[in-house]
Amino acid sequence: MKTQVCIIGAGPAGLLLGHLLRAEGIDCVVLERQTGDYVLSRIRAGVLETITVELMERLGLDARLKAEGLPHDGFNLADGERLIRIDMQELTGGHVVVYGQTEITRDLMDACPERGLDVIYEAAEVALHEVEGEAPYVTYRKDGREQRIDCRFIAGCDGFHGPGRKAIPAGVGKEYERVYPFGWLGILADVPPCNHELIYANHARGFALASMRSQTRSRYYVDVPLTERLEDWSDERVWDELALRLGPDAAAHITRGPSLEKSIAPLRSYVFAPMRHGSLILCGDSAHIVPPTGAKGLNLAASDVHYAAQALAAYFRRSDNDAIAAYSDKALARVWKSERFSWSLTKLMHRFPEDGPFERAMQVAELDYIASSRAAQTTIAENYIGLPV
Ligand code: APR
Ligand code: PHB
Repeated sequence: MKTQVCIIGAGPAGLLLGHLLRAEGIDCVVLERQTGDYVLSRIRAGVLETITVELMERLGLDARLKAEGLPHDGFNLADGERLIRIDMQELTGGHVVVYGQTEITRDLMDACPERGLDVIYEAAEVALHEVEGEAPYVTYRKDGREQRIDCRFIAGCDGFHGPGRKAIPAGVGKEYERVYPFGWLGILADVPPCNHELIYANHARGFALASMRSQTRSRYYVDVPLTERLEDWSDERVWDELALRLGPDAAAHITRGPSLEKSIAPLRSYVFAPMRHGSLILCGDSAHIVPPTGAKGLNLAASDVHYAAQALAAYFRRSDNDAIAAYSDKALARVWKSERFSWSLTKLMHRFPEDGPFERAMQVAELDYIASSRAAQTTIAENYIGLPV
């Protein structure tokens, strides 16, 4: 098979890139290791920045997002009994939309047949070849047969563990990494949210987040040491912990219910640079990971594919190589700012095991400053709604 761009991975990054390229009349094929059902079974964060909403609008795939997404003008930082509201609308004129990121994947997946986006699921042993030249190709195994796709570019949208980034020869790239000493234990339940906006809480017992998917479905998190085992966390124990950490006001409004899903996810900050090598372009989690504090994962994938689609369109329309050459620097400039914000919000809202009284005093001072300064609140608000692309 021959195509212009072979995309590896049918997560949000790969599907969004595929649709953007199809909208430009560029031929592409998406190769995914898993089944579509498996991809949709992954529970992800639920906050969309303006760029993500705009891309769905541009593609004309925003009908469900518009109907079911909840625009949020503000969110809250809790510190014990104090609640600091960040009024994004008033401070920046912007807002975020609360809509499950898994639902974005579903909307993109459902639109594939009508938009002529070819996705090959259950593609095993995907391997990238000749990425340094102008005629790369990808091999994979499907239904027991070896297959080959020749293309002009390969887009590695295959997440943190995929083969894309690993096809870049050792010594070419640089890795930047910070692993955190805790994970987030998440619970999803069909109960109304305890508050109409999100609450990120820093409590002596640890971090907690009250989030939602709709008026009837809630998503909550508490941070736990990495040594913690899920089976030691009954639903009741999670609800008890949330009630303690989120503060008395929220606790009074928590509705408990059985968990639909419960899992522990480790936290990591990671960047691989450059995000392009020869004919291979990396987008999304294949090039970077953020801790979930701030919900930047999918939104960063969206800005990457926006830049990648622009660069690929310039190449196929005008043989413009400069846009391809500029992709990595352009994407990384925004990636680093999101990494900084996710890291700083994580530092501000979690109790690190190595922290002593001094570090805690710094958190209190920073929260006091945020509570009293419009400038500080604006900084947080403009990062939360998403920096310009
Ligand atoms: N061959 C083919 N596909 C692969 C391979 C492989 N060897 N390895 C991984 N993949 C697929 C995965 O199965 C997955 O469907 O690549 C896809 C990568 O998707 P994600 O991990 O969701 O990464 P990305 O699309 O970059 O997502 C960006 O969205 O919802 C958020 O938290 C999520 O931060 C993430 C962001
Ligand atoms: C979620 O709703 O799952 C969520 C919201 C905000 C975050 C992370 C996760 O920062």
